[in-house]
Amino acid sequence: MNIPNHVAVIMDGNGRWAKAKGLPRKMGHVQGGKTVEEMLYAADELGIKYFTVYAFSTENWKRSEDEVSALMNLLRSYLTSGFKKAANNNVRIRIIGDKTGLAPDIQEIIADLEASSAANTGLQFQIAINYGSRDEILRMMRRAANDVKNGVIGPEDIDEAYISAHLDTADIPDPDLLIRTSGEQRLSNFLLWQLAYTEFYFSDKHWPDFDKEELAKAIEAFNKRDRRFGNAK
Ligand code: IPE
Ligand code: IPE
Ligand code: MG
Repeated sequence: MNIPNHVAVIMDGNGRWAKAKGLPRKMGHVQGGKTVEEMLYAADELGIKYFTVYAFSTENWKRSEDEVSALMNLLRSYLTSGFKKAANNNVRIRIIGDKTGLAPDIQEIIADLEASSAANTGLQFQIAINYGSRDEILRMMRRAANDVKNGVIGPEDIDEAYISAHLDTADIPDPDLLIRTSGEQRLSNFLLWQLAYTEFYFSDKHWPDFDKEELAKAIEAFNKRDRRFGNAK
């Protein structure tokens, strides 16, 4: 079995999972958090090297104040306990997205978690928080414009390598497999540049019901694909 090097996940359906059970949406996020922690270890066991999850988009601020604060509190809790534990188990954690838009205490927790796990050589775990691909590209372009303005580079120095190196995912290989749960088949502003040649897999399961078996099924489907990169093999 060919194990994808980098698997990215759009975790969707927490709200629908809760609704189906007559629970408040928040409870779906609580259960979804537990799934993230389980999948982190499952991915590692399967031999996946890079695992990236979409936790909170730049658009998600438009949700109710109540839901946004529940999500932020849940993030606080995972960044200080569950993910911290993973970091102590050789998992390297990186946050992608605009960290400056997060509460100062969350920014501090992130800085600590990233620094303390930077030398870890196990699973490379990326969490997208306040992440939007258009926002990421926009930030990269402003930086490029400044580099040109300041004479650091010329316009001809802006090539694919420059762009890749100045996105939040610098040093992280592009995903081989993207999974979106809960039946929706759209990107919702996730990794537009990085997913150029990625295989997509859509699962009907709501994220809180996603498990190792379902992850293995996605990898099995990935193995049946005839991967191409523009060349007719
Ligand atoms: C995914 O579940 C989690 C986040 C976007 C934070 P949703 O909250 O989007 O769940 P649905 O799509 O409403 O079911
Ligand atoms: C995408 O899910 C964002 C995350 C998984 C964090 P959404 O549920 O927010 O996306 P849309 O609104 O259905 O496109
Ligand atoms: Mg959703």
